[in-house]
Amino acid sequence: MLSGKTILLIIGGGIAAYKSLELIRRLKERGAAVVPVMTGAAGEFVTPLSVSALAGGKVYTDLFDLTDEAEMGHIQLSRAADLIVVAPATADLIGKVANGLAGDLASTLLMATDTEVLMAPAMNVRMWEHYAVQRNLAWLRDNGVRFVGPNEGDMACGEYGPGRMAEPMEIVAAVEARLARGVLSGKRAIVTSGPTHEPIDPVRYIANRSSGAQGTAIARALAARGAEVVFVTGPADVAPPEGVEVVKVQSARQMLAAVEAALPADVAVMAAAVADWRVKSESGSKIKKVKGALPVLEFEENPDILAQVSQMTEGRPGLVVGFAAETDDVVAHATAKRARKGCDWIVANDVSPETGIMGGTENAVVLISDAGAEDWPRMGKQDVAERLADRIAAAVS
Ligand code: CTP
Repeated sequence: MLSGKTILLIIGGGIAAYKSLELIRRLKERGAAVVPVMTGAAGEFVTPLSVSALAGGKVYTDLFDLTDEAEMGHIQLSRAADLIVVAPATADLIGKVANGLAGDLASTLLMATDTEVLMAPAMNVRMWEHYAVQRNLAWLRDNGVRFVGPNEGDMACGEYGPGRMAEPMEIVAAVEARLARGVLSGKRAIVTSGPTHEPIDPVRYIANRSSGAQGTAIARALAARGAEVVFVTGPADVAPPEGVEVVKVQSARQMLAAVEAALPADVAVMAAAVADWRVKSESGSKIKKVKGALPVLEFEENPDILAQVSQMTEGRPGLVVGFAAETDDVVAHATAKRARKGCDWIVANDVSPETGIMGGTENAVVLISDAGAEDWPRMGKQDVAERLADRIAAAVS
């Protein structure tokens, strides 16, 4: 939620400017006040009238508008905001800021401000890859400017590649993450993620299809809110997030040991797809193929990390969140699982192959707590993480 927050939205001159209209709606829906600024070129793509109608207020376009200067000077305009968002951030606007040029209202505001700036770049793929743009981006990044996107895909100019502006909801999530920064500072969180590998012999193992994407996104969202995060991960496909303590493990037993070593914590989120069973007698040498004799693997149960942490009598984290990957009767199974394991919340999802969730980029979850089952719409895994992190912040702070 963004109520009470003011976003100064600078709309640059690019075809993606049409998405900024949607962005204004989404920001306002969440309670933010949006003060729009348009560059001269932006007016070639969307009209100031549409922008001001959606924003519900004046749109600022001109550096030398005396009325504006009398009402609100451009320096004050930029400093009164909680966050400045530049969407679309064109190569021209990025170049101006990186090189200290302030010839119009947008670039002057960006130079005169001490407010954090979030840019959503949008440009042709060749422009994006151009060394001058990349140099400017690197300079801005080093100087604290934040970026969301660009995404890869078909471009309005007919080419394909990185350069598409991030979707409005991705920009909203980035805005929320920037503004929510600090709500979890002083809190310690443990996040488990990814699959586990249970060895059969030195070269073979049993695993599952978890990519680690959801757990990684959760760790990132908690860290962005200021939490100290210990990220205990099995062999995942995605890289661990920045700014967290990473503990890499292979098996369920190693994951349990790492979680125990990381305690105490205020929050534990167990997003890992832990293997329920391991091979009873792991062979110390490679099992050889013997004609006419198939190997028989005997299993034994792995420790249940979530249940153990949930049922700790001393030093239990104040909030323990589990996941429930189900293929049928999602809510019923997950509700029973929550009771059986003793965790506070269960994030349940349907991982039937036809949903494409396991290993995919989206998730459709149901949050089960004392308050009952709450259906969340299907959204990106980072969006699920941001929303969950907001709920966690509200519960523990
Ligand atoms: N989990 C765990 N340790 C295990 C198994 C599961 O910590 N040995 C955690 C997972 O990280 C997840 C939750 O328990 O948060 C539920 O995982 P899931 O595989 O859905 O549940 P299971 O207990 O394995 O139940 P089932 O496979 O019968 O559905």
